[in-house]
Amino acid sequence: MPRPTDLTSFAAYARALAGLTSERIETMRALAAEVEPYLEGVTDRFYARLESVPETRAWIDGRVESLRKPHRDWLTMLFRTDFGAGYAQTLMRIGDAHAKAGLPVDFLIAGMTVVQEALQPVVLAGARAKPFAEAARLASVNAALGCSLVMLQRAYATRAATPSPPRAA
Ligand code: HEM
Repeated sequence: MPRPTDLTSFAAYARALAGLTSERIETMRALAAEVEPYLEGVTDRFYARLESVPETRAWIDGRVESLRKPHRDWLTMLFRTDFGAGYAQTLMRIGDAHAKAGLPVDFLIAGMTVVQEALQPVVLAGARAKPFAEAARLASVNAALGCSLVMLQRAYATRAATPSPPRAA
């Protein structure tokens, strides 16, 4: 079945693939106030990892200060959005910025595991010794990031399907 092209259906498709249920979206939103003071630290860890790997460092050298704010804004949004059409549109635009700059899609895929790793201690802190709450929080973050990745990488598929204009001889 082809991927849906309207934003509402595409957002529903991304949520379904990643197992991002309404209950998990509620879990994310219920965590927003608790995690926000720590999102600056999550951003620090994200860029520290990108700077420690030569392949990614080459792309962000001298730009980390300007990239931090949009990245931090996205993290804030992650805990406040409904993962609907508006979010899909924003994430597709962010994905397109990466595709346009020529970043390999591999960076986004691996980058999500870095975000996952940095968010885990933050979401677990308020659920210590409550195994069901811990599991629910981890599953929600995992699904939210998976859904976001489907939306982000969409721009790559769209660009690949669009033939480049002919080059001048
Ligand atoms: C995986 C999750 C990631 C998210 C959510 C994310 C988020 C963002 C955001 C919000 C922007 C600003 C885009 C705009 O508004 O125009 C941006 C730009 C950028 N990101 Fe990421 N990013 C991710 C992964 C990565 C990785 C792994 C790299 C590796 C180097 C990277 C490198 C860049 C670069 C170079 C730009 C500037 C692109 C340009 O020249 O316009 N990002 N990113």
